[in-house]
Amino acid sequence: MRDGDSGRSHLLPLLAIGAIATACGIALGLLIDWFPTAASEESGPIDTLWDVLLIVSVPIFVLTQTFVLYSVWRFRMRPGEELEDGPPIHGNTRLEVIWTAIPAIILVALCSYAYVVLRDIETAEASEMKVRVVGEQFTWTFYYPGDGGKEVASNQLYLPTNTQVRFDVQSKDVLHDFWVPAFRLKIDAVPGITTRFRVKPDKAGVFPVVCAELCGLGHSVMRQSAHVVAPGVFDKWLADLRAKGRPGGEQPGGEEATGEEAGGAAPDGKALFTSVQPSCGSCHTLSDASSTGSIGPNLDETLKGKDAAYIQAGIEDPGAEVTKGFQDGIMPNNYGDTLQPEEIKALTDYLVEVATK
Ligand code: CUA
Repeated sequence: MRDGDSGRSHLLPLLAIGAIATACGIALGLLIDWFPTAASEESGPIDTLWDVLLIVSVPIFVLTQTFVLYSVWRFRMRPGEELEDGPPIHGNTRLEVIWTAIPAIILVALCSYAYVVLRDIETAEASEMKVRVVGEQFTWTFYYPGDGGKEVASNQLYLPTNTQVRFDVQSKDVLHDFWVPAFRLKIDAVPGITTRFRVKPDKAGVFPVVCAELCGLGHSVMRQSAHVVAPGVFDKWLADLRAKGRPGGEQPGGEEATGEEAGGAAPDGKALFTSVQPSCGSCHTLSDASSTGSIGPNLDETLKGKDAAYIQAGIEDPGAEVTKGFQDGIMPNNYGDTLQPEEIKALTDYLVEVATK
């Protein structure tokens, strides 16, 4: 230092500035609403962990930045000093021990805390429910235990409140990542292995399910919904699903028999076009449904002159005939499994009516 005395005289104002910046930083950090609605028991400890990390990080950030900015200002080159060299400093053992030991202690403490939180939220409960989650380009399918050891598939994720659920996550093709931000937990879906996490939803509502691993052209539309409902509603939904061996529509407790025969309303093709998950409109342009997706072929153009058989085949087995200029494997090929036959018919009829003429 050129003049130790004036350097030391800067220490107090520096500390004051640092303390004020720290207080502002922490206050701001805690005020910001970082996360979406919390809908699981695990959210509490995870959000608290986040707050603690924030409170610990801000002073360190402020400390390092204050020193950097102070040094830049205080030891800047003045006119006439262009050819001068700095003082020959050869380390400072005490300082180095301090700046190694303190971060090490902070890191070990934070890691221990995070480990305890993780262990707590991963504890299995005897009553846990199992849902197998399978990712593929570009959709999720959810498998629930059915009758006689068989599983039933659904493209809707329904969960009862206050029941621990274990997600066994798998992938059919590439890496995906199963994430419900409202639950705060996520895990990679890795081809060839099963990964899992547990969660206990504690708030009824509809929350986004997203893919959090870049998995191809349709990654951004690999979004579905988690419906957290009262246990009674869930039981009814699951019973319906098992009775059909296939998932119901959007509403839990939908009619079991096909619409027309049962005297109820037939599925509405236009509504299905936007409500199916992932929705047709997120990838396809169709003026009648006001959709502008561009990941898949523009249906206003490509369906001109086509018939119902062509359209139905395209929904059930999109890989059989791929529109020129588009890649095979982008459109989920599980609609044939996760939609009811009458839903596929309704969608087909709707498309015949609005897109083929
Ligand atoms: Cu699947 Cu991104």
